[in-house]
Amino acid sequence: MKQIGYSEKVMEHFMNPRNVGVIENPDGYGKVGNPVCGDLMEIFIKVLDDKIEDIKFRTFGCGSAIAVSSMITEMAKGKSLDEAMKISRKDVADELGGLPPQKMHCSNLGADALHEAIKSYWVKIGKLKQEDITKDESHEGDACPAQ
Ligand code: FES
Repeated sequence: MKQIGYSEKVMEHFMNPRNVGVIENPDGYGKVGNPVCGDLMEIFIKVLDDKIEDIKFRTFGCGSAIAVSSMITEMAKGKSLDEAMKISRKDVADELGGLPPQKMHCSNLGADALHEAIKSYWVKIGKLKQEDITKDESHEGDACPAQ
């Protein structure tokens, strides 16, 4: 069934999101928000042998943001941290079969939250400094025109 503007994959992940929830005492945690629409996404990871052993998310946001969170957790699970760090905003949107143009920005939250979770783990183990993770990945320009 073709939905207006949304791929079947987006609808499927929105209706049946994977990896929803919280990991208690996660090894890494990322939280990003979109200042314009107020949508918020959290990603929790457990790391084993430098790989994402488990990953969960909580998203307070639009349907696209939920589909993106679900998809990115599937894409990242089992990957090495370096590989998962390479998953881009565009990769998630592509994997979902695209998002309507006015919803492309929703994919930003997923990739950014994942990257923040990985970086927070790297800070924990001393691979990165806290100062290094606050500078990059500015969320300016991530406006939600649909809101
Ligand atoms: Fe704000 Fe989708 S993330 S409308």
